[in-house]
Amino acid sequence: MLNSFMLTGRRALVTGGGGGIGRALSSALYDMGADVLIVGRSQSADEAAAEIGTPERPVQSLQADLNDRQALAAVFEQAVSKLGGLDILVNCHGVVHSQESLTYPIELWDETLENNLNSVFLLCQLAGRVMVPQGSGKIINIASMLSFSGGLRAPAYAAAKGGVAQMTKALANEWSSKGVNVNAIAPGYVKTQLNRHIWTDPVRTEQIMARLPAGRWGDPDDLKGTVVFLASAASDYVHGAIIPVDGGWLSR
Ligand SMILES: NC(=O)c1ccc[n+]([C@@H]2O[C@H](COP(=O)([O-])OP(=O)(O)OC[C@H]3O[C@@H](n4cnc5c(N)ncnc54)[C@H](O)[C@@H]3O)[C@@H](O)[C@H]2O)c1
Repeated sequence: MLNSFMLTGRRALVTGGGGGIGRALSSALYDMGADVLIVGRSQSADEAAAEIGTPERPVQSLQADLNDRQALAAVFEQAVSKLGGLDILVNCHGVVHSQESLTYPIELWDETLENNLNSVFLLCQLAGRVMVPQGSGKIINIASMLSFSGGLRAPAYAAAKGGVAQMTKALANEWSSKGVNVNAIAPGYVKTQLNRHIWTDPVRTEQIMARLPAGRWGDPDDLKGTVVFLASAASDYVHGAIIPVDGGWLSR
């Protein structure tokens, strides 16, 4: 049974792998035997690769701004060529721009949708073009609690993450019979740079803690088991699932 969770020799591309959650997910895939390549838009991608990999088994990294569609296509091609193929795609890049809806600038709306939804679709499509012909592959998108509820002062993020959940199901409907699993992880409140504006706000922190059954914020490491499951043969019959890893937030 343990073997069905192993990822030995699987080729994995992780976007946003220099960030809090992406780094933990990359490290989990690596520890289970996958060859990992991290894409990010800053030096943190290279730093994460150096931190996770060893001289004998390095982790590769590439820098690109995934909001730039040409750069996205180019870096995807480069990544697949460096990995020698593709078995696992984890879409873990993302941003939040938090502002009142009454004055929410349309430029921020566009940028957030491009970053958190459009680029995710384009990466899934490119991965699908590799995985569907080869008859196997695992695509794991990172959704959010705001895939289920509207949240506070982050309308574009909520729209994008709602879209990620729906798109995950739509792609699963097309590709599940072709050996490709498309699923998503919906993290709860996980302390990273992305939500610094929340965990540094004592009022929001208190409100969140009051309804969080687990009684603590999530740590990026809390997501490791789910990504390994979704990337491995253990999840071969799991399609279009949006799996919450949220300390019980949604059950409350
Ligand atoms: N932290 C949470 O509580 C939480 C909850 C739900 C969902 N998420 C999602 O998890 C994912 C990872 O978030 P995190 O909390 O680790 O945040 P983070 O800010 O620590 O990491 C995000 C990473 O994505 C990279 N990135 C952003 N835009 C990019 C672009 N255009 N091109 C290339 N790289 C880009 C950043 O450089 C960063 O390394 C995101 O999709 C986020 O929406 C996070």
